[in-house]
Amino acid sequence: MGHTSSELLQEARDLPEHEASRLLLAAASAERSWLVGDPAVTVDVANRFREYAERRRTGEPLQYIEGTVQFGPIEVAVDRRVLIPRPETEQLYEAAVERLRGITSPVVVDLCSGSGNLALAIKHALPAARVIASDLSPDAVAVAAENAARLDLDIELVTGDLFSALPAEVAGSVDLIVTNPPYVTRDECALLPEEIADWEPALALNGGADGLDSLRRVAAEAADWLRPGGWLLCEIGERHGSVAERLFAAFRPEITRDLAGRDRFLLGRAPMPDELH
Ligand SMILES: C[S@@+](CC[C@H](N)C(=O)[O-])C[C@H]1O[C@@H](n2cnc3c(N)ncnc32)[C@H](O)[C@@H]1O
Repeated sequence: MGHTSSELLQEARDLPEHEASRLLLAAASAERSWLVGDPAVTVDVANRFREYAERRRTGEPLQYIEGTVQFGPIEVAVDRRVLIPRPETEQLYEAAVERLRGITSPVVVDLCSGSGNLALAIKHALPAARVIASDLSPDAVAVAAENAARLDLDIELVTGDLFSALPAEVAGSVDLIVTNPPYVTRDECALLPEEIADWEPALALNGGADGLDSLRRVAAEAADWLRPGGWLLCEIGERHGSVAERLFAAFRPEITRDLAGRDRFLLGRAPMPDELH
């Protein structure tokens, strides 16, 4: 015998109600309005919902079970191979697009690109941009390639350590580098909630002893890739504001905050030739 949606939700009452509803919507590939009126549910949807609920009970993040996340104007597919894009990172996307508007065909580099969320959202907003995304994890690059194909957005994807795999011909001509590198300190990694530590890739989180391993290298190498006056936008850890300001002093950085009021972004510019003395 079939079930109604409320009967199924009742079966999963050990889960928070909003989570069970999201899982049912994912199982039915339906919008929220579908739940209004307590619709009947097919056996396939009921079985899928029970499987999703079981996965959630093991601690798997909702977004991996749902399989997608909204990031700015695009929906990005995610699974265990990549970090789940966080809502605050949308501010980095917005800051990038704001700075690139007015440049006819900008060259943009997304370092540590993960699922490709930043690179793809920027390409979506600025179709004439040349967008190059790079990540050390071949798994992450594979997910970004799947997302690019799904969204029909033509970006260049390379696998490598920070700048190492970028095409040499863009050196000195990049209009904007955006990066959300791993910045959790080694000690903080040990204290992360299980839902993050057991499921999301350690490579996406662990920024070394003080969390600054990648940022330090970005600070040292970014000027070789940016055009004079080119932008450097980084996501940083909430306790890294002052140290990042010093690290990136040559870029005259501004530290800005996320919606919770925490230091979260560094916005800098490569010096112009007349500023180099
Ligand atoms: C914090 S995640 C950010 C992912 C995505 N850009 C986002 O905003 O959700 C950091 C990413 O950096 C990658 N990564 C870590 N070390 C790296 C390195 N040395 N060079 C390039 N990518 C690296 C990880 O594989 C991971 O995908």
